[in-house]
Amino acid sequence: MHYFTYKNNHLFCEDVSLEALAQKVGTPTYVYSQATLTRHFKAYQDVLKNHRHDMPNHLVCFSVKANSNLAILKLLKNLGAGFDIVSQGELYRVLKVGGNPKHVVFSGVGKTQEEMTYALKKNILCFNVESEQELILLNQVAKKLKKKAPVSIRVNPDIDPKTHPYISTGLKENKFGIPIQEALALYQRSSEFSSIQFIGIDCHIGSQMLSLDPILESVRELKKVILDLKQKGIHIQHLNIGGGLGIPYSKETPPSPQEYLKDVLSELKDLKIKLLCEPGRTIVGNAGILLTKVLYTKKTASKNFIIVDSAMNDLIRPTLYDAHHEVWPVQRSIDTPRVEQRRMTSVDIVGPICESGDFLAKDRKLAQPQPSDLLVVMSAGAYGFSMSSNYNSRPRVAEALVSGNKFKICRKREALKDLIRGEKP
Ligand code: LLP
Repeated sequence: MHYFTYKNNHLFCEDVSLEALAQKVGTPTYVYSQATLTRHFKAYQDVLKNHRHDMPNHLVCFSVKANSNLAILKLLKNLGAGFDIVSQGELYRVLKVGGNPKHVVFSGVGKTQEEMTYALKKNILCFNVESEQELILLNQVAKKLKKKAPVSIRVNPDIDPKTHPYISTGLKENKFGIPIQEALALYQRSSEFSSIQFIGIDCHIGSQMLSLDPILESVRELKKVILDLKQKGIHIQHLNIGGGLGIPYSKETPPSPQEYLKDVLSELKDLKIKLLCEPGRTIVGNAGILLTKVLYTKKTASKNFIIVDSAMNDLIRPTLYDAHHEVWPVQRSIDTPRVEQRRMTSVDIVGPICESGDFLAKDRKLAQPQPSDLLVVMSAGAYGFSMSSNYNSRPRVAEALVSGNKFKICRKREALKDLIRGEKP
């Protein structure tokens, strides 16, 4: 079931017309579908609930970096989500919506002392530790606070996730995690870390993975470590498989979260351990779009440009990762398919920023749009707004959350004064 569909050739998000929404909120605007977010989260939650006999306990930790809007965090919290965070800023957001710190795991290779202190004081579930130096510092910080820091070691299993190099994280040349043999040695040195309690093990080998093989291989590696430690008398309470499952942006056919979890569970069924996962993109990616307006059309000798009001600062994925996002018109042509075919031209959809890298889509077949027409950049809910910036002193765009035939603005469009907040001439 799709929640972005055409009704009478007009694109809707659930039961809200995007044309009407643009009239009220303006453009560019990120628009999210609450029904889609809910369905995606439940896909994870339901499989795990239905496998209680294999996996007595579980926690689906939404990866906040994918989309940190408070309305989305609140919705997911109310559905029972925990959270995967990578900064104190993300923890601050989670706490703002009433998220339970006991459902928060803290990843990242560069946690500062200040961040450790903040998270320890808030009593989070676990620090996913990524180096020996980090472990030593965390031990000291916890000791000072007279606390025990709960720790999972993030293992780097040296497995190729077969995705874009910038979002591969589980290869030995990546900065993430600790090689398996070193991790094993650290767990066995627990007596040196009197203010650390080792409770888990985790890994996250990459993002937008379209095949289960590398994920299952890493799960098998983690299982081996757990069994090895058990033999040595060290008992690990939870296994965190990270996130990373891919979504269809165009014609990709990734496994569903259901297929993914069923395979993971069958690898782990005799382990009887708490299972954590950290999905981001699969929850929010296809639950959001970027609504934008055509400003100009421009024909040069070799190209047909559509210049729109959103740009690489609003959605950086196309230029940073060569990512493909489908672009749909909000008002579909009422021509017959044959006439429409004739009107189709190959266009580059670009923004107003002063760089040739400022594009949202290249060489797309579209019925030639006119100034003021509305377009939609699809699959933009994950790593869209959360990676946006004020480059070229462009105010960050509005965000709206749709539910049924209603929507609310869940982030106001920035005003000019927001651009200079905290600055002094
Ligand atoms: N856990 C950890 C430790 C992570 O580093 C990430 C993402 C996730 C979970 C969530 O992964 P997901 O399920 O969303 O694939 N900006 C890039 C993606 C960066 C992913 C970084 N880590 C993009 O736009 O494709």
